[in-house]
Amino acid sequence: MSDKKRNILVAPSILAADFGKLAEEIQDVEKAGCDLIHVDVMDGSFVPNISIGPCVVSSVRSSTKLPLDVHLMIDDPIRYVEDFRSAGADWITVHVEATDKLGETIAKIKELGAKVGLSLRPKTSIDTLKPYLDQIDLILIMTVEPGFGGQSFMEEMIQKVRDLRGEFKGLISVDGGISPETAIVAKQAGVDILVAGSSIFKKQNRKEIIEELRAQ
Ligand code: DX5
Ligand code: ZN
Repeated sequence: MSDKKRNILVAPSILAADFGKLAEEIQDVEKAGCDLIHVDVMDGSFVPNISIGPCVVSSVRSSTKLPLDVHLMIDDPIRYVEDFRSAGADWITVHVEATDKLGETIAKIKELGAKVGLSLRPKTSIDTLKPYLDQIDLILIMTVEPGFGGQSFMEEMIQKVRDLRGEFKGLISVDGGISPETAIVAKQAGVDILVAGSSIFKKQNRKEIIEELRAQ
């Protein structure tokens, strides 16, 4: 268990929201006390699903003052980081498996003035992150296979959090299958950000859920 109490940030993933009333959904979780809005971008190539692009991020931007945590599940993300930054992304996370220009992509995100995150699929080793640890602000550990909301939490992924916590000074986030119950082990391992889609947006008592997620 990590010895120091950390401030837990809660980031609802809008993938599970009702897109027919997206602004209302976002304002509702903002009122319920969340800290960031997590935006999942999927291209139908890096992952089998397709979600949203910069124009929706721009509408999300105008619906809230909260920071936008944009998770790019797309191939060769350097092609689009500028568009997402212009649309209002504050944090831009790319996958280590999605590009052979990782160093360049990180540099570009920084140059655009956004915080930079790296994410990895469940099967990818944390060794792939090691050369970049001093260049990034966030590590997003996938606790499901990226592509879809509503999947079951893979508890064994929490070992990655434990292994990274000692040497990485930035923020560590977990994404996939996070609920007040599954979050417990993640918080014990020392995560900073809990991304949660279904467990927040598919429920009515969102304020309570967010408080339970944040509780230590
Ligand atoms: C999965 C996405 C997640 C997802 C989480 O590819 O990165 O952010 O929306 O959804 P839940 O919380 O429903 O697993
Ligand atoms: Zn995500």
